[in-house]
Amino acid sequence: METISFDYNAFQEWIPAAERVFAVARPRSVLEHGLGNGTKFFLDRCHRVVSIEWMVKPEHTKWVQTCQQMFQDHQLRWTIIPYACSGLLATEDEMARIGRYPEILRCRSEIDEVLASVYQDISPDVIFVDAGIHLRGTLVQASFDHAPIILAHDTNIPVYGWARIDVPNHYVCLKLAEGLGTTAWIEKSQTELIHALS
Ligand SMILES: C[S@@+](CC[C@H](N)C(=O)[O-])C[C@H]1O[C@@H](n2cnc3c(N)ncnc32)[C@H](O)[C@@H]1O
Repeated sequence: METISFDYNAFQEWIPAAERVFAVARPRSVLEHGLGNGTKFFLDRCHRVVSIEWMVKPEHTKWVQTCQQMFQDHQLRWTIIPYACSGLLATEDEMARIGRYPEILRCRSEIDEVLASVYQDISPDVIFVDAGIHLRGTLVQASFDHAPIILAHDTNIPVYGWARIDVPNHYVCLKLAEGLGTTAWIEKSQTELIHALS
């Protein structure tokens, strides 16, 4: 597989932690929430990458096109899902952004519906949550039992709702890096990986 040269900046501070995970687990497929320069990291290493852009603002449409152009040579193993969020999801996302993450997320069924369709198409080895929207805790919650390894970035930033995540008994939560924060939730059956990261 062709290797893409990679320059990463502060937005991709999660990469050293992800490298530690990939060195042991060697995942072949990734479902990514949120596109960006860091998508290259997955395109470099995986045979299948699916990236969802949860679009709540007009600039998100443009961003998808920008990323599509950046990585146009890699379309064969890359699927982009540009999802136009409902007004309800956009409103609840805005509440989270201003520090009022809704107690009960009325858009949860919309998120689940989108993901049910995505999970029909891919059973990812890794799910990575670094979306433009602020409902990231919910995206992690919706990832359990759909991948043995879940990673998320900005886990030191409370507005994203990490405190609401109810970790199932068969997953372990490991903080991998400080800074903005990179955290992994890993199925307990992945003993070699958990040992390597602990
Ligand atoms: C937080 S960035 C991180 C993406 C990727 N994980 C990375 O490390 O490069 C993800 C989201 O931020 C938003 N975003 C980042 N740069 C943007 C831009 N220039 N214009 C519009 N949205 C942008 C998009 O919603 C995108 O999905």
